[in-house]
Amino acid sequence: MACCHADFAALEGSDRGFTIGMPTFTFGPGVLAEAGDSAAELGLHRVALFTDRNLAGGEHVAKVKAALKTAGVDCVVYDEVTIEPTDRSFQDAARFAREANVDGFVSVGGGSVIDTCKAANLYASQPAEFMTYVNAPIGAGQRVPGPVRPHIACPTTSGTGSETTGISIFTLTARNAKTGIISRRLIPDVALVDPDVTRTLPANVVAATGFDCMSHALESITARLYPRRLNPAQGIRRPVSQGANPFSDALAASALQSVGQYLVRAVDDASDVEARTEMMYAAMLAGIAFNAAGCHLPHGLSYAVSGLVKDRHIDGYPPAKPLIPHGMAVVLNNPSVWRHTAPAHPARHLRCAHALGASMQGATPDDAGEVLAQRIIELMQATRMPNGLSALGLNDTHVDALAEGAEPQYRVMKNAPVDVGAAELRTLFRSAMRYW
Ligand SMILES: NC(=O)c1ccc[n+]([C@@H]2O[C@H](COP(=O)([O-])OP(=O)(O)OC[C@H]3O[C@@H](n4cnc5c(N)ncnc54)[C@H](O)[C@@H]3O)[C@@H](O)[C@H]2O)c1
Ligand SMILES: [Fe+2]
Repeated sequence: MACCHADFAALEGSDRGFTIGMPTFTFGPGVLAEAGDSAAELGLHRVALFTDRNLAGGEHVAKVKAALKTAGVDCVVYDEVTIEPTDRSFQDAARFAREANVDGFVSVGGGSVIDTCKAANLYASQPAEFMTYVNAPIGAGQRVPGPVRPHIACPTTSGTGSETTGISIFTLTARNAKTGIISRRLIPDVALVDPDVTRTLPANVVAATGFDCMSHALESITARLYPRRLNPAQGIRRPVSQGANPFSDALAASALQSVGQYLVRAVDDASDVEARTEMMYAAMLAGIAFNAAGCHLPHGLSYAVSGLVKDRHIDGYPPAKPLIPHGMAVVLNNPSVWRHTAPAHPARHLRCAHALGASMQGATPDDAGEVLAQRIIELMQATRMPNGLSALGLNDTHVDALAEGAEPQYRVMKNAPVDVGAAELRTLFRSAMRYW
């Protein structure tokens, strides 16, 4: 780590430190049964339990409901969450939360559910016009002025890490753009991370969410270093996503080792408890890491892809809603991005490749982008991911539209280790069309 600590030497005018936010988390098989005691410990008497329709009648929600009942905590269920939520679905959820007369929230689901619950809690606790807290420049980007109600997050997918983050992501339908709300106040108070939930996860959801986790970790390590970020506010104004820092580095590297070792096994075999447990843990670590460090190009580019491709249905996702799963859109841009960014910090890219299990024999700093890209391509092939953007029906005639679609994401992309403009975006999308 010595070489990486040297990366963080203070610069004239740079931030003096970094801040790490995270929930109190409990990890282990069966911990969903602790939801009731956790709620009682937080002083809750009546909670809103958020989930999606697919999970509402299933065993994970049943376990949490039973635990709440045993602890004497009343519970009212909201199962209207939209997978890949929108401004409209967030506002419907917020209306429910305002009228439900609850003193806290429990979410049981993937990123779509946990993010919706965060937003509903926010607008019920700190009412405001919807765009008030949405990230600038799309929204007004105002700070959340006070606390929100307690939230216990129970993730059921192994990728987003949303149970650990102060981030809530949605699609703003009018602009066909993904954006979000970011505040440390949105970090759930408690996360109950129970790897037993992954037994019921479809293979494609394990693969897509596993690549989301991988990219969170890679983007954390390769983000602009925190003393070099472009908005060096300090103290309580320090942004949630501050750039790469030693704490994120350590967690992200550990997550990458798990992805390299266990992702393929976890996708291939729902009964491989060890592999699915390791992926659940990796997702949580990568969530804590990227919440503090921030994402950059792969996520920024992914939003343009999911905004443009609206005609695909992927097995394991709701049949009535064509969509490109978030983690799939993210990984399709990964090799192209690392080939582009590696020269900015070859040592960090090599470190990522090594953690992911790439063969490092003879690798030099000049090869860093290629070594990392090739290891990711191996993992994509082994998990039957599409072969680049062309496999989604995109070609060079879509490159301008993709670059335009990524423009609202400049806030995220500023966190990249290199500057990108429209010309670089077009190059990155062109290079992401086909990988093998
Ligand atoms: N807030 C954050 O920090 C953050 C980070 C990354 C991604 N996201 C967002 O999260 C959303 C994606 O979330 P996701 O990838 O976790 O998936 P998801 O919540 O969209 O769910 C995907 C599908 O898997 C099903 N599912 C979930 N858990 C299951 C289980 N245990 N068994 C069987 N089926 C199950 C769901 O019902 C759904 O059909 C996107 O909107 C993305 O932008 C948020
Ligand atoms: Fe993500």
